[in-house]
Amino acid sequence: MSSVKSRSNSVYGGYEKAPNRAFLKAMGLTDNDISKPLVGIAAAWNEAGPCNIHVLGLASVAKEGVREAGGTPRIFTTPVVIDGIAMGSEGMKYSLVSRELIANVVESTVNAHGYDAFVALGGCDKTGPGLMMAMARLNIPSIYMYGGTTLPGNYKGKPIAIGDVYEAVGAYSAKKITSDDLRLMEDFAIPGPGTCGGLYTANTMGMISEALGLALPGSASPPAVDAERVRYTRETSKAVMNLLEIGLKPRDILTFEAFENAITALMASGGSTNAVLHILAIAYEAGVNLTLDDFDRISKKVPEIVNMKPGGEFVMADLHKVGGVPLLLKKLLDAGLLHGDSITVTGKTMEKNLKEFKLPNVDSSHIIRDINAPFNSYGGIRILKGNLATEGAVIKASATKVRYHKGPARVFNSEQEAFSAVLDGKIKEKEVVVIRYEGPKGGPGMREMLAVTSAIVGQGLGESVALITDGRFSGATRGIMVGHVAPEAAVGGTIGILQDGDIITIDIDNGKLNVELTEKEIKDRLENWKPLEPKYKSGLLAQYAKLVSSSSKGAVLIPY
Ligand code: FES
Repeated sequence: MSSVKSRSNSVYGGYEKAPNRAFLKAMGLTDNDISKPLVGIAAAWNEAGPCNIHVLGLASVAKEGVREAGGTPRIFTTPVVIDGIAMGSEGMKYSLVSRELIANVVESTVNAHGYDAFVALGGCDKTGPGLMMAMARLNIPSIYMYGGTTLPGNYKGKPIAIGDVYEAVGAYSAKKITSDDLRLMEDFAIPGPGTCGGLYTANTMGMISEALGLALPGSASPPAVDAERVRYTRETSKAVMNLLEIGLKPRDILTFEAFENAITALMASGGSTNAVLHILAIAYEAGVNLTLDDFDRISKKVPEIVNMKPGGEFVMADLHKVGGVPLLLKKLLDAGLLHGDSITVTGKTMEKNLKEFKLPNVDSSHIIRDINAPFNSYGGIRILKGNLATEGAVIKASATKVRYHKGPARVFNSEQEAFSAVLDGKIKEKEVVVIRYEGPKGGPGMREMLAVTSAIVGQGLGESVALITDGRFSGATRGIMVGHVAPEAAVGGTIGILQDGDIITIDIDNGKLNVELTEKEIKDRLENWKPLEPKYKSGLLAQYAKLVSSSSKGAVLIPY
């Protein structure tokens, strides 16, 4: 037991650590408890929203599981920012920031108290990525479990998800629906605990946790209120004790091939563009050299086969009924698109896991097609490059039917300015709405533009107006929406020198994002460009803006 307890022994072992043991005994722990491995249970929990409201309950289940498997569990909580609530306000600037906070809280709690291993329980958009970043960073035996999705909402007998409510705001402002309709959606869109229902960011990152091999097979898709989630929590917390015993650590799992598996699942599913940022960030923490070019390469060879919101029809609870993430991974493996020999938290390979997983014997073709009959022959996300994004930009190709758009720029220096212009009906067909100074440094915090993009769709302009931004999009966004434009405006990217009327082309099939300006015109404009004063001089956002890297590097904090 000594090697598995080497971390906790250094904090609680020996006569000189008697005061430390006294602190534990003050909480009712016995010598026997202290002699066992100490296992942190990182619960991303607070009462800010429904996405993680049940996670503290899951932490109690995990506690029992760790005890049963011979460990001594210690629950701690991490911050949670509910993206859906912060969306469209200054509060959204804290969303991506919270991802780094979560990783830092786990690092400080686990290291300061000498925990030997930990279980990470996530939910809302940034919690999964923050926890998985911490696993990669600390590289001690650890396992992730997603908190699960909410059940579908209900609007006049039709299943809906939160994305429909955002679009209803645009529809109401355009007088296409009544206030009673909007109220009905508000009341019944989210029927209880869990994350937003479609394949938005939280559910995408749940899927990614399985594809990376950091979570038990099948653990991502049971809804938050499903009893299966309780059983998975118990199994997950027992599995961490096995990881401790066999000495398998996150960086043994997080190889370059594991990241390729994650990107493959992302491309096949048409999941959230935010996953690009998060996968890059987890790779950074794992010390794996992953770039946007890897996403582009895989996007070109992996067909999109999943029919889920926002681009499609179904939600995570529907995917669960037909076999969940293992069904998708199995199809990819059978097609030779997945590395089956990647090791996972079960201690077995991806291939072995998928072989052992019992899929329900039901028709799944409405949600996941066969590889040879895909919705699109390429991945759901494309990387665009050009004189407007020399480092890269990201578009969810699956969320629009348009493959090419050319139109004049309408430039805004913040999300609010653009949102007001859309609601006031000032945006015309063909135009390209440009929202800049919303990047990692410029925002700071790279806000998501769901309010604007939903208003565009809600007003019926969805496929005729494009939007480009150095900020991000919600996983629920659909339309011709290009995000993560890098370099961002705040550091002198071309997006910062655009003017109203500049002609922008978005060419999805050829992976291009350009403005019709010559090199000399761009150079001349850049010479006259002056950086804006930082928006924040003190506090968390000022600290973040100083350290954050480009979105093309995952917007991680790089100390220098
Ligand atoms: Fe939490 Fe959507 S707001 S998952």
